[in-house]
Amino acid sequence: MSFGSGKIWMNGTFVDWEDAKIHVGAHVVHYGSGVFEGARCYNTPNGSACFRLDTHIRRLYDSAKIYRMAYDIGAEGFEAAVLDTIRENHYKECYIRPLLYRGYETLGVNPFSCPVDAVIMVWEWGAYLGEDSLKNGVDVQVSSWGRGAPNRFPSSAKSTANYANSQLIKMEAVVNGYAEGIALDPAGHLSEGSGQNLFLVRDGMLTTPPLASSALAGITRDCVITLANDLDIPVREEMQPRESLYISDEVFFTGTAAEITPIRSVDRITIGSGKRGPITEVIQRRFFDIIHGREPDTHGWLTYVYSSGESEKAAETEAPARG
Ligand SMILES: Cc1ncc(COP(=O)(O)O)c(C=O)c1O
Repeated sequence: MSFGSGKIWMNGTFVDWEDAKIHVGAHVVHYGSGVFEGARCYNTPNGSACFRLDTHIRRLYDSAKIYRMAYDIGAEGFEAAVLDTIRENHYKECYIRPLLYRGYETLGVNPFSCPVDAVIMVWEWGAYLGEDSLKNGVDVQVSSWGRGAPNRFPSSAKSTANYANSQLIKMEAVVNGYAEGIALDPAGHLSEGSGQNLFLVRDGMLTTPPLASSALAGITRDCVITLANDLDIPVREEMQPRESLYISDEVFFTGTAAEITPIRSVDRITIGSGKRGPITEVIQRRFFDIIHGREPDTHGWLTYVYSSGESEKAAETEAPARG
């Protein structure tokens, strides 16, 4: 199955993909009043496993709290609903998209009278920037669009409204012939991509912009910091000027969708050797080995989806193995 088929969880009920509809008068359609997550389930030798599902659902509930939204099944209930949705669709491997949004009631800007509704969608989604990008890297530009200023749009909340800015960054990059754009924060420091965090390597030191530079607290970003510590690679969060990109030995993106994607050029300036660098490669390999269950899950990042009997049923719908 792929995008466009299967069942969608809507407020606790499974609905056929084509019937999962909301009213055009729903608050979220007009005012971007939604918060969401993007997580993944991977096929491992021990069965299908969601990667850091608890952390993703915690961030979903944090985003909801910032926007004064409550959804009463709680984070644990929501995690269980995600696992049920994968089982219902018999996926071995999939992308997971939970969304909480203000539904249909009134259309004043004040959302309080509108219900908070929820959906969970799952579908097969391969490498976000293309399978080749994980090995050979991507060409990107520094965007002419900046990230939001602190105390304007909370960048720690994964709100649908923030993705108006992301769309401007992404569309400009695509129109200019790049895979992605890197946005600067309001003071001109490096921030992040349209849907990815950013890492730089110079002289063996790994750096990433701090959250105060309007970057999302990425879960893959946190994994990379953890794995760098495990591998004794020095890592720090640091505000950096745009030109740090051009003189880095290696640059890469991190994200649930993009996973760990090397950047081979920025604004047509070649980064390092123009190939995936050695530190990117070692961290990427460790990351893929853990998510695909080839190395022990020492950080407790995997949540298994099926009991053994169920996983045989899931195996009937094979998804391509990756990484
Ligand atoms: C704006 C933005 N930054 C960074 C990320 C990476 O976050 P994560 O690694 O949690 O997917 C994402 C993706 O969710 C994003 O949308």
